[in-house]
Amino acid sequence: MTTLILNSKSIVDKHSNNIGKAVAALKNKGIVPSLKVILVGNNPASQIYVTNKKKACERYGAQCEIISLSEKTNEKEIRDLVKKLNDDKNVHGILIQLPLPSHLQLSVEEMVHPLKDVDGFHPSNIAQLYFNKLTPDSLLPCTPKAVMMVLDENNISLHDKTVCVIGRSFIVGRPLFHLLLNRDATVSLCHSKTKNLKQIIQNSDIIITATGNNQYFKADLLRDDLSQILIDVGMTKDKDNKTIGDIADPAVFKKTKAYTPVPGGIGPLTILNLVQNLLRATCKQHGINYEQLEKNSSLP
Ligand code: GUN
Repeated sequence: MTTLILNSKSIVDKHSNNIGKAVAALKNKGIVPSLKVILVGNNPASQIYVTNKKKACERYGAQCEIISLSEKTNEKEIRDLVKKLNDDKNVHGILIQLPLPSHLQLSVEEMVHPLKDVDGFHPSNIAQLYFNKLTPDSLLPCTPKAVMMVLDENNISLHDKTVCVIGRSFIVGRPLFHLLLNRDATVSLCHSKTKNLKQIIQNSDIIITATGNNQYFKADLLRDDLSQILIDVGMTKDKDNKTIGDIADPAVFKKTKAYTPVPGGIGPLTILNLVQNLLRATCKQHGINYEQLEKNSSLP
């Protein structure tokens, strides 16, 4: 049995056409979707991430401005900037790149207006997920949504599956737990203090690792029957400074039925979901039905 590589390229291609047409349809109405990305400090990984986000928006014809602020920016300056952007009707999406420098103690999730919250972090957006009240125009966190997309597009059912999510971050693990649960998966949310990780992994059909640690996942954690699916959400560097995920040892992949590669797996889908969220946010602010726009790429 050969191991299947769950590349995201074909999924991105499939959705790209509709996204490009939806942006064009909005522009015909005189609406140019516009994203503002706030980057505080000089975190090198964040600088790469925000550049990729900007490139993706522009590839589809949307606007994206990176607002770079010094490491020393204070909380009031950030609050004032976000308030100004919240009030600007020509801005449809706002993203505060995380992590922020450690001296800033801001509850960023409550700062961005829920209608402009392309990260899906605002409590009112998270509540839709928590209470399983999602609609096609719900703003959901981009990386968890990317994981659901790779599973759905590869026809991997969830209602009959046991899933192990490793990593309890607010950006990935926690929202992903709810997305999977809402689809009737039986989910274990594991983390650095989990005692019986190997046992939970061995009992799982799907394993999703989102830790940012590329040292812990060894091949012996997986079963030997080549039946498990591994989704790698990590983005790390190996000893040669090459981009890899949470999995550093290729022997791990050989023990899976299917896995997502890094790069070329969850990352491009996360960015695709960010652009889709920008369009959802733009539509919400203009009273346009997003689902219809994506399907028909024309406005009534
Ligand atoms: N840093 C790493 N991932 C993310 C993300 O999805 N959104 C934001 N705002 N910051 C991040």
